[in-house]
Amino acid sequence: MLLKNEIASAQLVRPIMPPHADAWDRPSFWRFADAAKEATEALAEHRMRVLPQLPVEALRRFCTQYRFFTIDYISDLAVLIARLPFGGLRSLLGRILAEELGDGDASRAHPEVYDRFLASIGVEPGQLAQRLPANREVLGALTDDLHRRSAAFGVGLRGMGGECLCQTYLSVMFEHLRAHPYMREHAARIDWEFWTIHTGEQDLLHGELTRRAIDDYLQDDPHVLADLASGYQHSITAWNLFWRNILDACAPRRDTLS
Ligand SMILES: [Fe+2]
Repeated sequence: MLLKNEIASAQLVRPIMPPHADAWDRPSFWRFADAAKEATEALAEHRMRVLPQLPVEALRRFCTQYRFFTIDYISDLAVLIARLPFGGLRSLLGRILAEELGDGDASRAHPEVYDRFLASIGVEPGQLAQRLPANREVLGALTDDLHRRSAAFGVGLRGMGGECLCQTYLSVMFEHLRAHPYMREHAARIDWEFWTIHTGEQDLLHGELTRRAIDDYLQDDPHVLADLASGYQHSITAWNLFWRNILDACAPRRDTLS
């Protein structure tokens, strides 16, 4: 069932792919991006359904793995900003990076905020460093690509993926997460701030502003389109693999549970 759904989601993306890299234009790129977002949402919806049924210890491990994404995203974003030309996109990503880092207040940096959520659901400090080796590789490869490939590829990889896919996934994850009996029982003492920031208006606004800034970036230099599209495809693959690795490790019986 899961596999069938993943194939269906991938098929949603494939038919609109232009045959050659030079065949991209802005409308076809945004059609692709919208279809990818929809497919991601459908896949997330299917995958996250298992969350309310997980033993609480598995749920803690599941949630802990996402912290590594938030940590690596920040340094990747900084690299991307360093590589971009001056302009609206660079400026906007700079603002997003500042927010990620707490805007001058380290206690408000998003990884810190996320760790407070983890502590409030009973994740022990010793568990915080337990990163899945498979995902160390996935995220490490993104960082390598960011250095190795063009800046436009990096925009697709981290500028778009981080802001446009993340929000979709996190919203779906949050829906299922808060339906878990442990979360419902302890709702009053759980620190929800990370979720308030990432599943509400602020993140939606980031997504829209990013899209507009990327569209301007594409208009300024249409030659970057093929690389940007390729980076975005790459980010979707990596993102899906990241979550599949987490579910394989934390919810190995998901096929029978779903
Ligand atoms: Fe964030």
